[in-house]
Amino acid sequence: MGLARLGREKCKIVSRIDSAYLDKRLFQEVRKGELGSEQWYRQPEKWFALTSYNNPYKTIHSELVLLRENSGKLAKSIGGNRLVFYGVGTGDTESFIVESALKRNKACEVIAIDVNKTYLERFFSMLSNLLHENPGAEISCLGFHDLFENMEQKDIGERKACHVCLGNTVGNFDQGEIFAVFKKLSRKGERLILGLHLASDMQRILKAYRTPLMNDLLFTTVKQYFPGKSQEDIEWRVNGLLVEGWLGQTRLLKSEKYTIKAVKNLGREHGFNFLQEFNDGNAAIVLMERV
Ligand SMILES: C[S@@+](CC[C@H](N)C(=O)[O-])C[C@H]1O[C@@H](n2cnc3c(N)ncnc32)[C@H](O)[C@@H]1O
Repeated sequence: MGLARLGREKCKIVSRIDSAYLDKRLFQEVRKGELGSEQWYRQPEKWFALTSYNNPYKTIHSELVLLRENSGKLAKSIGGNRLVFYGVGTGDTESFIVESALKRNKACEVIAIDVNKTYLERFFSMLSNLLHENPGAEISCLGFHDLFENMEQKDIGERKACHVCLGNTVGNFDQGEIFAVFKKLSRKGERLILGLHLASDMQRILKAYRTPLMNDLLFTTVKQYFPGKSQEDIEWRVNGLLVEGWLGQTRLLKSEKYTIKAVKNLGREHGFNFLQEFNDGNAAIVLMERV
């Protein structure tokens, strides 16, 4: 599938899922007692409010600073490769990476995957704006409104790619499952850049999740299945290096926090060699290579 050249064409978004598909999954997940991360981002307005006014872990800020401080090294690592973004959300960190790549190469190819089409549309508008700020630059892009788990190698194409998953998105998944996705979609020698939350004071981190905005975000999606309950009934717990949000017997949210040592092991177990990391004690940017 071809990428669209921004500025000349409207960016293409291939939409392969819809709300009926996500509702069906939600029904099954509630029955199983565990929600998948694709459900938490279904109300973009609430997500924007949460990340703008009450970002539980100050991740975007930490990652932006780390990316800015290390942009030269990152751009070198990306080279002229096609960027594949797994989850764009507000898109701030992702557009910074595109900007760094443009400074080095003047041209950049971008594939973005997200369960929510609004985030993709907003991200591509941000990239269009980058063109105005970088005269002579070229950006080609393609969006997949789909789950990471549904993607195939042929969607990413033949060109060498650099895979980027920021904002601790990996922490919301079973670790084996998300690394299996990266492995399926990457080839030997390709880079994987992860943005992760670090495990520091877990009680402090827990407190950051226990907020009305976070409860509202989660409860809105599931309330039809919990008559008689309210968002105040959500309980937040620490379980090892996991932060969890529970409503009765259903785990609504999980977010893994990491140590650098654990990330190195995870990569090794799942076919990625650790190359480098930058961290500020709160978040880390980790570079790996597919072996
Ligand atoms: C934690 S946010 C991170 C967003 C962004 N990378 C950042 O750093 O702010 C996770 C993003 O991944 C998307 N997402 C979550 N689970 C997904 C899945 N299974 N498949 C596709 N997208 C998913 C969400 O819609 C959201 O945009």
